[in-house]
Amino acid sequence: MIGNLNHVAIVVPNLEKAKFKYEGILGATVSGIEHLEDHGVSIIFVKLGNTKIELMHPLGDKSPIKKFLEKNPNGAIHHVCYEVKNIKNSIKLLQKKGIEIIGDSSPSIGAHGKPVVFLKPKQFDGTLIELEEV
Ligand code: CO
Repeated sequence: MIGNLNHVAIVVPNLEKAKFKYEGILGATVSGIEHLEDHGVSIIFVKLGNTKIELMHPLGDKSPIKKFLEKNPNGAIHHVCYEVKNIKNSIKLLQKKGIEIIGDSSPSIGAHGKPVVFLKPKQFDGTLIELEEV
């Protein structure tokens, strides 16, 4: 069902400092900061040859990652995103196998403008999994 690793998302306490670490120290190609108000996150993309890393920071009081940063004040890996070809079919197959989808089980438009769903970490060894249709 899953294809490539699309991205790993890391919540960081300071985007500018994180940008410097990846660009200035690790020598990666890094985007500017994007503020995604609809998603309540500010993001920097680290572009790698085979995938990307998203450095995320809460944006606004209703940010879905605000509590996560409070629990992990030094930052932490938040989720991994795998690509799927057809997200609705993937959801059906997962539900048949007893896998729980977070929310109302229908895809929403993710931070990259593509349909995504998230799977409950409890059923995947503590890892929050995002599936993105590409
Ligand atoms: Co993501």
